[in-house]
Amino acid sequence: MDAATVTVLGATGKAGRAVARAALRRGLHVRGTTRHVESRTDAPGLPDGVDRSVADLLTGDGLVDALRGADAAYLIVPNLHPAEVDIVARAARVAEEEGVAQIVYHSVADPDDARMPHHVRKGRAERELRAVRPDAVVLRPCAYQQNLLAPALDGRIEVPYRLDAPFSLVDLDDVAEVAAAALAGELEPGSTHVLAGPEDLTVADLAARATRVLGRPVTAAATTVEEWRAGPGAGLDPGAAADLEAMFRAYDGTGFTADPQPLARLLGRPPTTWTDLLRRHAR
Ligand SMILES: NC(=O)c1ccc[n+]([C@@H]2O[C@H](COP(=O)([O-])OP(=O)(O)OC[C@H]3O[C@@H](n4cnc5c(N)ncnc54)[C@H](OP(=O)(O)O)[C@@H]3O)[C@@H](O)[C@H]2O)c1
Repeated sequence: MDAATVTVLGATGKAGRAVARAALRRGLHVRGTTRHVESRTDAPGLPDGVDRSVADLLTGDGLVDALRGADAAYLIVPNLHPAEVDIVARAARVAEEEGVAQIVYHSVADPDDARMPHHVRKGRAERELRAVRPDAVVLRPCAYQQNLLAPALDGRIEVPYRLDAPFSLVDLDDVAEVAAAALAGELEPGSTHVLAGPEDLTVADLAARATRVLGRPVTAAATTVEEWRAGPGAGLDPGAAADLEAMFRAYDGTGFTADPQPLARLLGRPPTTWTDLLRRHAR
């Protein structure tokens, strides 16, 4: 029998590449969308083995071809995109029209957290999706461990929120493993899954563990949101910067934690810890 064909939207992005690679590992035939007809030298491209399908998620150009004949579709919207709700609604409609049997949406844990506009957009997008396809599977990952990996390897994790706020950071490759299972039709139709890492750790904890695992000092430093705006945030699109500032203020208040049990159940093994991830990447 031929392998099932799955289309991963935004397959050159951070999450899209991980999901596409996990789907390939399961033996699925993977089609990935990108706006570019050729690989770029200034950005990661499609993973090897993924078929290029040129599509723009904002305008919808190329989406019909990307989804035609696919057995499953993974909907990922570019990070902090203001048109998330419209992008998801259109992709769901096109997937429905093209008879795609399985739709999976990459949402976020706590999608209706009113403190964070980009979470609220995901909550609305989930509802738009379910209106078209009640049988869609929704994955709600926490923040990724990978967000802080490069700074940890470089010896300094600097964040614009307090260092003692708790986070259940999740390994993006664990998320991708569940995503691939969903694309293969192994998750219950219409189900929603929170995907959180196995431990609640503060940024101070992350730095301390990194120091131990890497065998060299890794410091944690808190800056103010104002310092972030003048530094790493300068030059960002104003809408994205405002979304991130709202997120940092929410993180400063409560951190970002979620129930770790669903991920362990779905993986059927202990999820990757921050220590595991660091060991994997230690030079
Ligand atoms: N970071 C986290 O901790 C976290 C946690 C939970 C959920 N999420 C969610 O995960 C999702 C994926 O994030 P990501 O960081 O993997 O995304 P990303 O790196 O921004 O990638 C998205 C891809 O979409 C493509 N794209 C197609 N049409 C586009 C358009 N009109 N404008 C911009 N890009 C377009 C781009 O590929 P081309 O340039 O090749 O076209 C880009 O590589 C986001 O929705 C985010 O909210 C993130």
